[in-house]
Amino acid sequence: MTEESLICNFCGKSRKDVTKMIVGASKTSICNECVKLCVEILDEDIVKARKEKLYSGDKNILNPVLIKEHLDQYVIGQDAAKTVLSVAVANHYKRIVQPPIDFDLDKSNVMVLGATGAGKTLLARTIAKYLDVPFAIADATTLTESGYVGDDVENVVQKLYANAGGDLEKTQKGIIFIDEIDKICRKGENTSLTRDVSGEGVQQGLLKIVEGTECRVPPMGGRKHPDQQTITIDTSDILFIVGGAFTELEKQIRSKQSGGMGFGTKLKEQDDKNYLSEVQPEDLIKYGLIPEFVGRFSMLTNVDPLNETQLIRILTEPKNAILKQTKYLFGLDNIDIEFTKEAKQSIARKAKELGTNARGLKNVVDTVVLPYQFDAEEMRNRGVTKIQITNEVVDKGADPVLVFKKANGISKKQN
Ligand SMILES: Nc1ncnc2c1ncn2[C@@H]1O[C@H](COP(=O)(O)OP(=O)(O)OP(=O)(O)O)[C@@H](O)[C@H]1O
Ligand SMILES: [Mg+2]
Repeated sequence: MTEESLICNFCGKSRKDVTKMIVGASKTSICNECVKLCVEILDEDIVKARKEKLYSGDKNILNPVLIKEHLDQYVIGQDAAKTVLSVAVANHYKRIVQPPIDFDLDKSNVMVLGATGAGKTLLARTIAKYLDVPFAIADATTLTESGYVGDDVENVVQKLYANAGGDLEKTQKGIIFIDEIDKICRKGENTSLTRDVSGEGVQQGLLKIVEGTECRVPPMGGRKHPDQQTITIDTSDILFIVGGAFTELEKQIRSKQSGGMGFGTKLKEQDDKNYLSEVQPEDLIKYGLIPEFVGRFSMLTNVDPLNETQLIRILTEPKNAILKQTKYLFGLDNIDIEFTKEAKQSIARKAKELGTNARGLKNVVDTVVLPYQFDAEEMRNRGVTKIQITNEVVDKGADPVLVFKKANGISKKQN
């Protein structure tokens, strides 16, 4: 067979009509045009598969409404923060999964302001769990500039790498939460001569990793030294969420809004408006965060102090609610524990008085149940099957109602 007589077995064109003809086994031939078509078909498949991943699994995952629904299962209240975080996180991962071809999408790091124990860390942790991405928490107050005693800012990235089980690719798409960011502010706008240099240095250090840099960290942690092996981690796609109570800032805005309260001005003690919801980037700069740092956190949101009703809900509603945990622990000793409605109200009231929001709840509950946890085995041997905690137990340290198992039924007894 001469070359001129070759015919493409796919399209039927002859050699003279195409630029190339490839001859395979058993003298089958394919022309360059058909090869191109086949490549296109295969490419389409790859794109389709990628899209399918995003639009079936991943896109569902990245629907802010679903992210918020997930948060609702673990975090009570804080709707504003939940919405902002859901959108920020969805955008962040969309940006990674489907980056634009001819321009860059900015990262949407988030700053969450608000009272201690109201759910800042919980929100960030819950989102990371939902997305199944590695998560690391750092406390800004323990960070120092490179070279000083303390944690290098780069150690935060190292922590994420460790939490990702040493998977570099996962690390580079993880979430880092930095708490107590208000504690690394300069000490005030007008104190430039005596300003807190180390605070600003930490901000500068963080700024670099927040905006995206290649940092070299020792894989096993610890401090870097010259002949140590390091791995390079690109932080461009790591999402940063920072949190801070900004108590003083709240006070400043509060007093500004009430017309600069002087001596003798009646303090509105009942004023439970959360002034942090009105914070603007320039307020944060005045407070002592450097403008470049503030600028890297395009999304600002806040958590609200929790009221008693919310504290009661936190006791029982979240998937890992405190009372569910307590019940589980007693269950291991084959004892049931129950809290009356009034007892829950008393616990919430006590926690509210502590002023540490939900953080106080665990403290109050633990104090109440501790003696019975201590005696659990002995109580079970005595035939106790259930402990009922009333408000008297919480408020006055009274004995709980104990329910005993009797051979011929169940009898109740006030201890
Ligand atoms: N809104 C909430 N819903 C459910 N649980 C909450 C909520 N807020 C706080 N908690 C619980 O209280 C504890 C403290 O919360 P978290 O660590 O999120 O506080 P935080 O706002 O980060 O405080 P801090 O400023 O002190 O770091 C957590 O164990 C969490 O389970
Ligand atoms: Mg926290």
